[in-house]
Amino acid sequence: MDYFAALAALDWHIELGADEAICDAPINRYELPKVAQKPRLPKMGAGSNIAPIGDMPVIPQIQEAGADIARIMAAKCNDLVALRDAMAVFDHCSLKKGARNLVFSDGLPTARLMVIGEAPGREEDRIGKPFVGKAGQLLDRMFAAIGLARGGEAEKGVYITNVMPWRPPSNRDPEPEEIDMMLPFLERHIALADPEVIVCVGNIACQAVLGKRGITRLRGNWDSAFGKPVMPMFHPAALLRDNLKKRDSWADLLAVQARLKGH
Ligand code: URA
Repeated sequence: MDYFAALAALDWHIELGADEAICDAPINRYELPKVAQKPRLPKMGAGSNIAPIGDMPVIPQIQEAGADIARIMAAKCNDLVALRDAMAVFDHCSLKKGARNLVFSDGLPTARLMVIGEAPGREEDRIGKPFVGKAGQLLDRMFAAIGLARGGEAEKGVYITNVMPWRPPSNRDPEPEEIDMMLPFLERHIALADPEVIVCVGNIACQAVLGKRGITRLRGNWDSAFGKPVMPMFHPAALLRDNLKKRDSWADLLAVQARLKGH
């Protein structure tokens, strides 16, 4: 490799965040923590005097410990700043290790409408705010069409967050275990922001908040979670891929607007 090619390769690594040599062997920081193995039962042979005790359940100890710690930490937060700080020091979700920034929220925390997306993408990870890329710009235009904005005050504001505060590698879907681990924080986030209405955009948000998938079937139908009315809608990234979905989303936005107007 010549000098300039080597320099370009080095720049590229630094751009990716690999700016420090620490170990001789690489560590896969995206690897999920290993779940406990199912204990092996002794074989029951003829003449064995071991009583049949049946199958022992698999106990995903590490995962549950992470979710339990998240629940304890979230419960102690009495405002959104404390919640953001607690999430920033929560080290049990492996996605954090590959992310540049915690992406907590954007918009007006006291807004009547809270929008919940999936997870940060590249731009969001770089800037530390949700929905700032192309999908986010479309999301802003969608809410502007019903008179709402994340920069809006009081009645006209929107508050935006994601199920996951860290970008998954290569923008993959968050794993169910990762969602479960971070769910106590999302639940507390909703309780503290206390919106009148929630909009969940896309399947991952519906999975986390409503415990349901199948956005094509769910969208446009009011549901409820954590004591709040929830409107599932297509993710704006899906609208960018398929223009025909925009008509459905417009109907859903009008339903949200009507609900906020008390109709
Ligand atoms: N998609 C999401 O769901 N959230 C973001 O913040 C950006 C893109």
